[in-house]
Amino acid sequence: MTSPLNVLCVFGTRPDAIKMAPVVKAFKQSPDIFHPKVLVTGQHREQLDQVLHVFNIVPDYDLGIMQHGQTLTQITTRVLDGLEKVLSNERVSALLAQGDTTTTFAAALAAFYRKIPFGHVEAGLRTDNVYNPFPEEMNRRLAGVIATFHFAPTEQARDNLLRENIPDSRIWLTGNTGIDALHSIASSEFDTDEEPLHSILHSRSRLVLITAHRRENWGEPLESICNAIADLARDFSDCIFVYAMHKNPVVRKTAQTILGDMERVSLIEPPEYVPFVKLMQRSYLILTDSGGVQEEAPSFKVPTLVLRTTTERPEGIDAGAAKLVGVNRERIVSEASILLTDMSKHNRMSCSANPYGDGKAAERIRSVLQRELFNDGA
Ligand code: UD1
Ligand code: UDP
Repeated sequence: MTSPLNVLCVFGTRPDAIKMAPVVKAFKQSPDIFHPKVLVTGQHREQLDQVLHVFNIVPDYDLGIMQHGQTLTQITTRVLDGLEKVLSNERVSALLAQGDTTTTFAAALAAFYRKIPFGHVEAGLRTDNVYNPFPEEMNRRLAGVIATFHFAPTEQARDNLLRENIPDSRIWLTGNTGIDALHSIASSEFDTDEEPLHSILHSRSRLVLITAHRRENWGEPLESICNAIADLARDFSDCIFVYAMHKNPVVRKTAQTILGDMERVSLIEPPEYVPFVKLMQRSYLILTDSGGVQEEAPSFKVPTLVLRTTTERPEGIDAGAAKLVGVNRERIVSEASILLTDMSKHNRMSCSANPYGDGKAAERIRSVLQRELFNDGA
């Protein structure tokens, strides 16, 4: 009997943590085969710690790299530096990271420098513009070049990888681990006495939930988004507009300046994952530039307007659950107004199944690695 293999799961931001939590759990369920270790880079702090708390994950390593107003170069170099120290003292059979954050790209590069096989979770998402989303499109392409194992969430992601000449034998269609995370908390009861969440969850008004944080939307596009929300709040007195503000000071400043004094608009601190999911469930409409929220919203049959000019997640749009509306103020107001007034159009966007996964992605990833690393046909 061979001893368990060390697999290092690396993440650093809120969405990475949510999507890697099911993977960590799957490995922990096979202690005879795998010895999973968790390294968090701390690219995020509060938003990461919230997720560690929800999923009861105690990291083996925490690089603690976050600096306020950090640059991409600072994140990259600090992750590389921190990981080099850890990897030179640990025997690691495979390093796994997910998606397209700078933590993920730097982790892939650090693994390559140590000749450790890198497994890319949520591989193969693409737009046709390397600057949109920025820097995520390049991060995931670079991680893909380095990866030994490509875990594609959807057929379209798999096709994107095949088009880049990644051999079919290196790609596994797994579904998105974010849907595993969603399933794992689906039955969690949540209520709170704390404001403003209590009032929002118990309000009789229709809830329009908003998140927006992407770098390519900073400046004019985000101002345009916020102005559109202000217009909608003036026009629809039977709705409340709840903006879960990202901790990024750039994003908060714009939101607070334009929406801070608006009636019917609540700018709230980012709720933990479970209450945030309850907010999604309770929503009538979601406006977002988030990747993860685009994937989750179809599970709750809540129509979603995507506040971006491109998306690497066409499946929700093809299924009719989401619409790409860009960042123009008038267009956002007009598209949202249609869904807030025309019930049949709203209903048409509410009836699709979730195209991103079935809740079993992490187990598939674990089983592929067992097969590949032990060559044992499990
Ligand atoms: C990062 C990812 C982005 C992902 C997003 C998810 C990169 C380059 N960007 O963007 O792909 O969609 O996370 O949320 O990898 N901050 C805090 N506390 C926190 C988190 C952030 O104070 O818990 C503030 C800090 O001042 C930090 C700033 O936000 O410097 C920006 O954080 P950063 O991770 O660089 O970028 P995000 O916009 O969060
Ligand atoms: N999320 C959360 N609290 C919030 C906003 C989002 O828990 O206030 C969750 C959401 O359910 C999804 C993930 O965070 O799982 C998305 O993160 P984010 O939008 O920051 O990043 P992206 O997916 O765009 O990279």
